[in-house]
Formats: sequence, structure tokens, C-alpha cells
Amino acid sequence: MTIEWKPLAARLSGQLRALGSIQTEEWAGAFASVPRHLFVPRYWALNEFNAPSALIDGANPDQATTWLEAVYSNQFLLTQWAYEGDIRTATSSASLPSLVAGMLEHCEIKPNDRVLEIGTGSGYNTALLCAVVSGENVTTVDVDGLLVAEAESRLAQLGYFPNCMTGDGAGGVASHAPYDVILSTCAAARIPEAWIDQVKPGGRIVSPFTYSGVLVKAVKDQDGMVSGQFCPEPMYFMPMRPSVQDRTTATVPMPNHLDAPVTGSMPTQIPIEAWDDINWRLWLSLFLPDSQVAMSLTEDADPRPTGVIVYTDADRADCDADTGIASYGRDRLWHTVEAAWSLWQSYDQPDRTRLGITAIPGERQWVWLDQPDSALNWDIH
Ligand SMILES: C[S@@+](CC[C@H](N)C(=O)[O-])C[C@H]1O[C@@H](n2cnc3c(N)ncnc32)[C@H](O)[C@@H]1O
Repeated sequence: MTIEWKPLAARLSGQLRALGSIQTEEWAGAFASVPRHLFVPRYWALNEFNAPSALIDGANPDQATTWLEAVYSNQFLLTQWAYEGDIRTATSSASLPSLVAGMLEHCEIKPNDRVLEIGTGSGYNTALLCAVVSGENVTTVDVDGLLVAEAESRLAQLGYFPNCMTGDGAGGVASHAPYDVILSTCAAARIPEAWIDQVKPGGRIVSPFTYSGVLVKAVKDQDGMVSGQFCPEPMYFMPMRPSVQDRTTATVPMPNHLDAPVTGSMPTQIPIEAWDDINWRLWLSLFLPDSQVAMSLTEDADPRPTGVIVYTDADRADCDADTGIASYGRDRLWHTVEAAWSLWQSYDQPDRTRLGITAIPGERQWVWLDQPDSALNWDIH
């Protein structure tokens, strides 16, 4: 069956332009010229709980129309998942095209730039890179060798021959360094030293971080220091696995799995609506980097949350929206939540663009408010 994909790819490119995710001709051209269907021959449809419910396969005539429409729309498509113990984890996807486009624009890639992509996945983003800087300037690495092999053969079908490598992207790819741009499509907990080492002075590192969906764009200076601000748009990407950055790979159990004893309670100052604010969530994640937040919902039609749960792999705190009382366990998590909230208020509820990250290789890496030498900063380990 011949697939008339060109009008669909042009439509997607136009939509991303209208959304403001694509801002330049070169990326508009790349999105219009790369057949996304080749990279996502099948994907998992998700149910209302975001769990994979059915495999939608382009080779199945009954599903081909649904598949093609999804592939050329602004949709993230889950392509692989696995169980870690009894917890289901997404292990690869074709990322949301508007995020892909936004991230590529942040890279400010010039025609002869050498680019390292971390997280090959389907190979679609790699193909977009090849369309702009040509294959020999592109290196891509994924921790999953099977994905790399599939992506490599799809890319070859289009005449693209980037350096496709299997390995932990936290180590970069030294054999093809140095790079003008290192772009990660999986979230890191800190900027790996190898990336700092392998990017040229003046080069860019663009990566999502595990801190509440934040994207960092950092530039390396002549002294080898890397620094940059957080970008305005939220970017939720799957965390890196398995890597030297063990924290990102640890699976945090859902609160129901935790049987933490209550040791105390306190009234909260935080209105339940505040938990919808991604900037507050990001701020809190700097104080409690290993925590997660879940809203408690009732099973009836009322969409308002009845409370909020902040939890780590060892403890939890629960706040009831009606009573405004939070109960906490051994680690007194809610005390940290309230202290973070007070500070957020006293600094006029900073949004993510007031935050940034600086790394001095071999010495220190930290997140800061307003400028790198700010009195308010968080060490990143
Ligand atoms: C969101 S997907 C990438 C999407 C991909 N760029 C695309 O266009 O389809 C994230 C990818 O990161 C990979 N990954 C996770 N941890 C990694 C690591 N430590 N090193 C390299 N790749 C990793 C996963 O296997 C997954 O394929």
C-alpha cells in the first residue's frame, strides 16, 4: 500500500508552526520532509488511566486509518513499556512533536554543527536532525540496543547514515566528540560530566530534567563551566535508565504501596488550587528532589481533588483539602513542603524562567534563583 504521507507531514509542520513550536524555515522544512509513519509503525493506545490498552498497528488494515491519523498529529505515541516488579514503566516513545520542535529550536543548530542526541528511541528526532545537518554530523545513542538497530535501519531507508550507538547516554559518545550541541530526549537528574567534557566551548546542552518537567539550555564557556536558564515551556520526558544517575532510575512506589505510620499533623497554608501550578511543583521538587506528588480524587464525577499526597520511596504526607490538615510520617515531609511554600511566597512565586543551573566540572553543580551567585541555590548531586 502506498501511503500519501507528504500532505500529512506538511499539515503537521503547519500545525507546529501555528502553535509556535516551530519558528524557523529549516525546522518547518524538516518536519514536512520526514515521514514520521516510518519511525512509528505501531504504538500503544492509552486508556483513561494512561495505561497501555491496545497495540495500534499500521500493518493491520482495520487500524491503518487510526494509526496514520495519530502518527501525523501532535501526539506523543508510546512505543514500548515494561514491568519493573509490579510497576509499569514507559521505556520508549515517539515524543510529542510540539516538544520535539521546541527543543530543536532551543538548540539553535547551524548547518555544519556536530550534534549528539541522547535517546534515539524511534529514530524520528534523529531523522529531523539529519535533514538539517546531514547524517555524518549526527551521533545518536540509546541504552536499548534493539531500538538503536531498528532506528538505524529506518534511517538508512531515507538515506540517512548517522553514527548510531548503544550505551548509557550519561557517558555521551566520546569517539565522535566534540559536539556543538548535545540534545537529550530523556530526562537527566543533573548535567553529566561527560556532556560537559564533550561539548565545545560555546556549545549548547539542551536537556529535560527530572525536576518537574523542566528543560535546561546551558552553554559552555571558555573555562569549561556550563550555565543556563530553565526554558519557559514545561517538557515532560521519561527519565534516563539505567545510568550512573541512579536516582532517576529508581521507581518510586505509588502511595498505596506505602504503609508509613503517621507521626504528626499540621494545618496547611497551601490552597489546593496551588497544586495545579507547574512552577510551584518545580520549586517544591528542588527542596524534595526524590519526591512525587499525587492528587487524591474521588471516583464520582467531581473532578476537584480531595487532597494531595507528597511521597518518596520511604515516606509520605497527606493533606486533606476540606480540613486543610496535613498528616505526615517519620520524615516530616509536610514541614519541608510548608517551608518551601513560604519561601516561594516571599520571592513572589518565581516562575521557572527565574531559575537556572550552573556546573563546574569536578567541583559543583547547582540550581539558582535569578543568577548563579544567588544566595538561594540548591546543590545537585
Ligand atoms: C522519549 S524516548 C526518545 C524519543 C526519540 N528521540 C524519538 O524521536 O523517538 C526516550 C529514549 O531514551 C532512551 N534512554 C533512556 N535512558 C537512556 C540512557 N541512559 N542513555 C541513552 N538513552 C536512554 C530510552 O530507551 C528511550 O528510547
